[in-house]
Amino acid sequence: MLTAQDIPISSTGVIHGEILTRDWVVSMILDLAGYVDSNDLGSMRILEPAAGTGAFISVILDRLIASAKSHGASLTDDQVGSSIRAFDIQEENCRALRKLVVQKLTDAGVTKATASKLSDLWIVHDDFLLTDQSSVAGEFDVVVGNPPYIRMEDIPPAKALQYRDSFRTMTGRADIYVAFFEEGLHALNPDGKLVFICADRWMRNDYGKGLRQFITTGEYALDAVITAHDADVFERQVDAYPAIVVLRKGKQASVSIADTTTEFCERESKKLISAVVHKTHISSHSFDVGVVPHWLSSGTEPWPHGSPSTLKRLARLGELPTIEDTGAKIGIGIATGADAVYVTHPSRPLPDVEEARLLPLSHADDIRNGTWNWTGRFLVNPWDAGGLTDLALFPRTKRYLTGHEAVRGRNVAQRNPKTWWRTIDRVAFRLLDRSLILLQDMSLEVTPVVAPKGFYPHHNLYWIDVQDSGWDPEVLAGILLSDQVRDQVAARCVLMRGKTLRLQAQYLRQIRIPSPTELTKSTTYIFKKAYKTKDRELATATLRPLLPE
Ligand SMILES: C[S@@+](CC[C@H](N)C(=O)[O-])C[C@H]1O[C@@H](n2cnc3c(N)ncnc32)[C@H](O)[C@@H]1O
Repeated sequence: MLTAQDIPISSTGVIHGEILTRDWVVSMILDLAGYVDSNDLGSMRILEPAAGTGAFISVILDRLIASAKSHGASLTDDQVGSSIRAFDIQEENCRALRKLVVQKLTDAGVTKATASKLSDLWIVHDDFLLTDQSSVAGEFDVVVGNPPYIRMEDIPPAKALQYRDSFRTMTGRADIYVAFFEEGLHALNPDGKLVFICADRWMRNDYGKGLRQFITTGEYALDAVITAHDADVFERQVDAYPAIVVLRKGKQASVSIADTTTEFCERESKKLISAVVHKTHISSHSFDVGVVPHWLSSGTEPWPHGSPSTLKRLARLGELPTIEDTGAKIGIGIATGADAVYVTHPSRPLPDVEEARLLPLSHADDIRNGTWNWTGRFLVNPWDAGGLTDLALFPRTKRYLTGHEAVRGRNVAQRNPKTWWRTIDRVAFRLLDRSLILLQDMSLEVTPVVAPKGFYPHHNLYWIDVQDSGWDPEVLAGILLSDQVRDQVAARCVLMRGKTLRLQAQYLRQIRIPSPTELTKSTTYIFKKAYKTKDRELATATLRPLLPE
């Protein structure tokens, strides 16, 4: 199977991210956008920002021609000259698109001269992302397409810089399709709708943060997500994890969620579209559609994924507080910038530093099998409660840190030459006088371990501090063992191959649980017991009646 990045380089010698959409998928997208011939399509304006050789334009033209016939409208440049705008960066694609327009229009009885004039008006040979934005902003009822997938590193640097400068969503290692969403959304008029088929990685990954924020905190709403990872939606098989996303200008309301299987095909698509458009629940052997009453993430938060019923359950859980709403705090352990120097190794002699500078460290190895078992690591600690320690008072530590070139070579030391011995993060001394719940990222299960006080977490651990929250750490740890918590994490995080869970703070912060004040004495006792005996089934069964139906 090809990956999205294996797409051939075009005759211009540049990667253009060409993956062509099947025509029945194009029809689905146009139906979802309301671009159907029962409407007077000549009076609507549609934009295709990356038209290729015309997978979308071909169906758009068929519908426009059929609509003009049934509405008695004429296909002249003064009537429909601004009804379609299609961009492509490749001249040869634009030539093919113009030819297609002329062919379809003349077949429909339009004169060659008018057809050719319309093809010139409709097809624009330009970089959609660098075109004069005022010519598209707020102009379109419908934006549809399959934007190109091109990684930033495959774009000439000067151009990549231009894209980054022009689009606030192009953060981190954002793929170019992210900017197509932003510019496509800008192009919508106040009632406009955008429907793209595109890789869905941006919904959950780091580079999608800017786009998620742009959509959920801007003036846009998500209407539907149709996941099509296994369906045969493109002309070639590509490993692109596609989804059809329906966005519109306006206030967020309920969202249709659909998942499809390998058997999803043209015949099945009509039933799915009807369920999505009418916001109803249907399932068949090839798809499952459900509705969630509101969207489940805001700002930069990763969007959840899963079957419609999983997402409906998540929506209901929205009534419950997050872990931090209950007063607990979530964080990550200390990053040093040079663990080989700052973190001692259990099987090697301790470094020659003052004993006061050795801070017991909790490490992933200490919780590996689900119970606390300290392997004996220390942090060579450059911090005191008041700030960075004065190395003049600790000559052995000074000698030790000075003796390792790696310490001054770290970015944090280069940026702060006067305080070169600092670690990237500070030690938050308050974390030392309490038990912390520790979790390891990239695990197959959520396996919380309560560590005794006095151990400072290393950066490969995430911690939950329950101080002043009313939680007994072992009770909260018992709840975290449950399947319901695992399902919430799985729905939010990007599952790596082999179904590994990401348990980073951003995902942990979205877990919804009952508040400690809602628990009876006996459920408190049972969760504690579930934690102590590592009994996931007990935790799951005890949590079930405490969650909304
Ligand atoms: C994934 S293909 C989609 C083609 C067609 N819409 C379809 O679905 O079959 C992406 C198209 O975007 C074009 N393209 C790439 N970068 C572009 C840009 N910056 N502006 C406009 N078009 C671009 C490519 O030439 C390619 O034809």
